[in-house]
Amino acid sequence: MNSIKYYLTRVSEIFDQETFLAEPRELYEPIDYTLRLGGKRIRPTLLLAANALFGGREEEARNAALGIETFHNFTLLHDDLMDRSPLRRGQPTVFCKWDENTAILSGDTMFALAWRYFLRQPTPHLQEILQCFNETAIEVCEGQQKDMNFESCTLDKVSLDDYLDMIRQKTAVLLAAALKIGALYAGAPSGEVDKLWQFGIHLGLAFQLQDDLLDGYGDTAVFGKKTGQDIRDNKKTFLPLTALALCSPEQKNELASLFAPQNPLDEEEKVRRVMNLYNTVDLRPKIEKAIADEFAKASRQLDDIQAPEDLKTPLREMLESLNGRKK
Ligand code: IPE
Ligand code: IPE
Ligand code: MG
Ligand code: MG
Ligand code: MG
Repeated sequence: MNSIKYYLTRVSEIFDQETFLAEPRELYEPIDYTLRLGGKRIRPTLLLAANALFGGREEEARNAALGIETFHNFTLLHDDLMDRSPLRRGQPTVFCKWDENTAILSGDTMFALAWRYFLRQPTPHLQEILQCFNETAIEVCEGQQKDMNFESCTLDKVSLDDYLDMIRQKTAVLLAAALKIGALYAGAPSGEVDKLWQFGIHLGLAFQLQDDLLDGYGDTAVFGKKTGQDIRDNKKTFLPLTALALCSPEQKNELASLFAPQNPLDEEEKVRRVMNLYNTVDLRPKIEKAIADEFAKASRQLDDIQAPEDLKTPLREMLESLNGRKK
């Protein structure tokens, strides 16, 4: 019986066997830099585990694992530029290490490289797989646009439902798609593919809620990203939206003005004040509860999937390892 560690190791070996450098160097070096830094490689690992869940063979899903991770990394190059984030995986982001144009063009290339990986693999399910991949890519962009739109809104204009819809699109659908695509290569029955998709959505929602939590409460040295960036960017994440409901009328006004699009405060002073307010209203346990609830939903969804229990173990282990993650 395989464990999640087995699939993580396999993903790492698959990436080690690939070459990302080509000419012109200026285009490919940032791609190699990003893909070699690795990160957690959650999506390709989910893809391989979902493929095995329905009796698939790794050789058939290998290229899709490369494709989904290359696509994810493309979104990061553009996301860091959009969010003005200086650090990722403990290293300078591509637009900081090189420049903005590099992040745009190397990112675009990674999107096309992802397609190349998918097209490399013959399968009777290619049409459905590519459709899933492409629709997912469109949803990620829609989610990213909503995330940007919310930056220029006042806090009271974004509801928790708006936020959940936005993170479902920008983050959860890609985890769901990784699982679905892995299952499609294995020829899984469509009812089970749908359940696996829902598992991915709940896992992805929990994952992004946690990302938002770590932006406020994480440790930059462990998280690998500069904390407080969502506050500097006026992101309407789960943190300020939940805090608002816990605030007194005076605190509400303060929070709203701190998250207003044109707050003149020094950025670091703003981060300090926001975190102070969060601590005053004891925000953290509320966020942790929401994350735990979402992981529990994911877990129940996994229970419902008709597949051998021992093959579900790696997915359970992935859920457990993400639950309580610090990076
Ligand atoms: C970062 O994704 C973007 C989000 C959806 C929060 P990951 O946290 O999976 O990033 P890496 O690939 O492990 O660095
Ligand atoms: C990123 O959300 C989602 C995508 C990259 C599509 P965030 O902006 O919160 O991700 P991080 O925190 O920069 O990794
Ligand atoms: Mg970001
Ligand atoms: Mg972002
Ligand atoms: Mg984030």
